[in-house]
Amino acid sequence: MSIRIAPSILSADFGRLESEIFEVASADFIHVDVMDNHFVPNLTIGLPVVERLAQISPVPLDVHLMIADPDRWAAKYAEVGAASCTYHFEAANNPLQVARDIRSTGSRAAVAIKPGTPAEAVFDLLTEVDMVLVMTVEPGFGGQEFMREMLPKLGALRKAAADAGTDIWLEVDGGISVETAPEAVAAGADTLVAGSSVFGHLDRAAAIANLRVAAR
Ligand code: DX5
Ligand code: ZN
Repeated sequence: MSIRIAPSILSADFGRLESEIFEVASADFIHVDVMDNHFVPNLTIGLPVVERLAQISPVPLDVHLMIADPDRWAAKYAEVGAASCTYHFEAANNPLQVARDIRSTGSRAAVAIKPGTPAEAVFDLLTEVDMVLVMTVEPGFGGQEFMREMLPKLGALRKAAADAGTDIWLEVDGGISVETAPEAVAAGADTLVAGSSVFGHLDRAAAIANLRVAAR
């Protein structure tokens, strides 16, 4: 199985975002963290910036919405060009409808769970989404320590998806490095978000290559 790598631009230099995303063009996706200071205690970028990034990016966007009311917003991010659009289960009033709204645009739909949310919470959604994102830190900030106690959720999701007759991607986000990537992959992850472990290195292409080797 080949592992997908998605560098998170949360750790990039926002003053030179265009060149930053070209520096990670060897990645499979670019992970874009949208935060609203309501669902998480941090604020980043919104719809107009994501729309422009989608136009200029050499790599498809994996948009991670850490926002309240994804019921209202998620499909709009898909419409402006997010190849994959992830909303938080905890934030959605009607998680099933959000998934359907995203998919109706032609984009991939994904649902994310915070560390305190059990994998079982999204079992009913597995046939309605293309990916589940298991957070391995509390969402809100880059550079936090990997929570390896989240890893059993991946196996539980993989089994539940097989039982439901569906094949979904499993993404992990938070604290992924050359040290922790092998653990996440062994536990069942196939898509790895990496912020500080890519943009914390001057040679981003080498950092991505090193993650690929570690995750193999
Ligand atoms: C955190 C974000 C992550 C963050 C990961 O809430 O969702 O995508 O950028 O950063 P690292 O890889 O540094 O933990
Ligand atoms: Zn993220």
